[in-house]
Amino acid sequence: MKITAYGVRPEEQPWLTKIAQKNHFELIQTAAWLTADNVDLARGSIGISAFQTLPYSAAVFAKMAALKIPVLAIRNVGTDNLDLASADREGIEVSNVPVYSPAAIAEFVVLSALQLLRQAPATTRLVAQDQLAEVQNLVGGELNQQTIGVIGTGHIGLLAAKTFHNFGARVLAYDAFPRTDQPDWLEYVADLPTLLAQSQIVTLHVPGIKANDHLLDARALARLPKGALVINTARGNLIDTSALLAALTTGQIGGAAIDTYEFENQIERASESHQPITAPYYHDLLAMSNVILTPHIAYHTDVAVQNMVQGSLANILNYQAAKQLLNPVK
Ligand code: NAD
Ligand code: COI
Repeated sequence: MKITAYGVRPEEQPWLTKIAQKNHFELIQTAAWLTADNVDLARGSIGISAFQTLPYSAAVFAKMAALKIPVLAIRNVGTDNLDLASADREGIEVSNVPVYSPAAIAEFVVLSALQLLRQAPATTRLVAQDQLAEVQNLVGGELNQQTIGVIGTGHIGLLAAKTFHNFGARVLAYDAFPRTDQPDWLEYVADLPTLLAQSQIVTLHVPGIKANDHLLDARALARLPKGALVINTARGNLIDTSALLAALTTGQIGGAAIDTYEFENQIERASESHQPITAPYYHDLLAMSNVILTPHIAYHTDVAVQNMVQGSLANILNYQAAKQLLNPVK
């Protein structure tokens, strides 16, 4: 019995190996992302475990079908980069790991809010330039004084909301399908414009499906109070980056922390091949001292890594044993 894992990072290897030994399967590991050109490596496998933000294309699923590999078990939450119609057409079953550590992302969001409020990027730059007197002029804000707008109150949004609440902030929320079990401190509003009009900090926690493309566009950003802070750890397509840059330039937006970037695929490919980053607006944003850009790392904790590997392989093993995925992606 053989399983092939793509996009493997060094910190995942001990977990992959441990599970392979315990369950007596042969494990093929590669750091390469899964593409139509390297599916052949998985020939004879009962399933593929993969991890990447680059697209899983129709050609990948066609090759998997040709090789009779029945399962693609991704090691993460987001499914926006999967061509699910093709997977379905080719008869490939797809699973994800829907909950591996919401706290990892929620804590990163609050960290981002604190960094922006205390002007951490500007402080770091000035200290590095020996402009210590200038640092004394930077006055921070306090999280306990802020009204936070949480867009999407699923696994991660709810935990981010709770963490903000624990800091003493007021927390408003908008979700297309509000929870029925919401805590009493969480204030749902009826629609997105109402949320935006009151939020000094807005944080996104909705999926990157097509319907959510540019949820925060120029109009939405203009609804926020002047100087509001924007945090995106969800998916890059949720923000119109050109509109964000314009709003940062006028001061309508006071700062932004972007972990998931609209054009992140170009950045990933470029950094992988040591080529220059040419993603639109990236260098403009990088030059701003009230912007934090991170390369999609909000999830990256020890707990998350372990759970991602275990969750993905559990889907493949369960499919092999019972012809059923634990976390099928619809
Ligand atoms: P989830 O499915 O648990 O919750 C999503 C919520 O969004 C649901 O309650 C849904 O009703 C709501 N929603 C969908 N569209 C909406 C809209 N237009 N307006 C209002 N509400 C809407 O998802 P999750 O696990 O909490 O993940 C949230 C986001 O975080 C996803 O985009 C996911 O891909 C991303 N993510 C990022 C990282 C990272 O490292 N940066 C890690 C994991 C997940
Ligand atoms: C997810 O789990 O969906 C993430 O965004 C993490 C990622 C690096 C793929």
